[in-house]
Amino acid sequence: MHAIRWKRFFVAAALLCGAPALVQQSWAQQSIKAEGRALAMTICSACHSIDKDDGASKNLAAPAFSAVAAMPSATRLSLRVFLRSHHTVMPAIILTDDQIDAISEYILDLRTK
Ligand code: HEC
Repeated sequence: MHAIRWKRFFVAAALLCGAPALVQQSWAQQSIKAEGRALAMTICSACHSIDKDDGASKNLAAPAFSAVAAMPSATRLSLRVFLRSHHTVMPAIILTDDQIDAISEYILDLRTK
């Protein structure tokens, strides 16, 4: 009897302590992706399709972000390097580290959907 009560107490305590942290973390993830999408919409969508079901990009030379996400070579690091370097075709766009992180999260998230 006692043992069961204690078990319940611990389960409840674990839920109370753990749940807010989990919710907070996923909220932070969501908001960085939302920020990434907003940036992509403002800065990148002139050339790239930015949403999963957008079809071909406006600029046919620019891969859709869902196609970028599908490349096995696309990682947080490779996107960061690409967005910081000069390219031959795509214009160099100056972004802050936070903007690069947000856009990279947004692009990579297209892979899982
Ligand atoms: C003026 C048009 C234009 C804009 C604006 C633009 N891009 Fe591009 N982007 C291109 C073109 C064209 C390519 C393909 C040629 C190349 O790789 O340079 C490309 C390629 C890419 C690639 C693929 C790299 C690879 O590995 O093949 C990524 C990632 C990318 N762009 C991200 C972005 C992001 C993020 C933004 C917004 C911050 C952006 N682009 C804005 C034209 C554009």
